[in-house]
Amino acid sequence: MKHLLSTRDLSAASALRLLDVAEEMSAVGEREIKKLPALRGRTVVNLFFEDSTRTRISFEAAAKRLSADVINFAVKGSSVSKGESLKDTAQTLEAMSADAVVIRHPASGAPARLAASDWIDAAVINAGDGTHEHPTQALLDAFTLRRHWARIGGTPSAGTTLAGMKVLIVGDVLHSRVARSNVWLLTTLGAEVLLAGPPTLLPVGIGSWPCTVFYDLDEAIAQRPDAVMMLRLQAERMNAAFFPSTREYSRRWGFDDGRLALLDIMGLDDTVIMHPGPMNRGLEISAAADSPRSTILAQVRNGVSVRMAALYLLLSGDPHDDEPRDDETHSLPHDLPIPEGRTTR
Ligand code: CP
Repeated sequence: MKHLLSTRDLSAASALRLLDVAEEMSAVGEREIKKLPALRGRTVVNLFFEDSTRTRISFEAAAKRLSADVINFAVKGSSVSKGESLKDTAQTLEAMSADAVVIRHPASGAPARLAASDWIDAAVINAGDGTHEHPTQALLDAFTLRRHWARIGGTPSAGTTLAGMKVLIVGDVLHSRVARSNVWLLTTLGAEVLLAGPPTLLPVGIGSWPCTVFYDLDEAIAQRPDAVMMLRLQAERMNAAFFPSTREYSRRWGFDDGRLALLDIMGLDDTVIMHPGPMNRGLEISAAADSPRSTILAQVRNGVSVRMAALYLLLSGDPHDDEPRDDETHSLPHDLPIPEGRTTR
């Protein structure tokens, strides 16, 4: 694997390998010295054309825990605001010997364009492109779900899938790259995926997606999901009225106190509530965000381990890359060797 651009083209073997390595990385985070020398001498560039808190900071923390040098590039204050193109920006980074570029961009397909170009030779990681994909978010969500599936606090054994798990994704699917990446990844890992949202916020062609669609949230909850993933209502991507009012949206599609209590009444003791953040509190989610069912802060924490795994596997030239893509055997990199040279170049 040279780049990480989407979960749609990620095989089960590759996804499980990454989740297994992320478990090892998480163990590093429990140590007194939380650092590995694995990417010493490598340079990771965070190239963010859109705002971010969680993704940018956790990629920075992940790279630093692996001893890489990190350059944070934000569009505000850069020459992009003077009209510099993606190509010229990329070639500038190439001249600075970037080994990995973590890119967030408002245009769907921008990371793939960068990866396919001869502008830069670095590994490209998609940190969210338009409404297309956000693969590391889906991977950290899968990591969180896999731990939950192995019972909260447990460590899943290598190769554990999400077979038998039912995950309900709710809300603004139309504008959500998180929803798309999760639909592809969770189904690849064997989970059953349900989607619920107002028809105006579900994309054309959703009937061909590998999931069941509901137009009523309570009907979807009645399917007894193991996890409910609330999506952020993405007002910044809306150029029209998609629902009558925020009060109406919250009543029909918000995970409010009533729906939180409903899980107790239904005896769904182990159902967790997820949200990728940032949250619109009081709109798509309320007290559930702070309840014992919430995995929201665990998702943020797990993001560092998953992004360490992604950087490590892309920059170290994973010896398991030559295995058949759908091979169901997975082994852990017990000694996490320091990669020799720039093997991805
Ligand atoms: N979930 C997520 O991508 O959050 P940020 O926009 O804060 O990075």
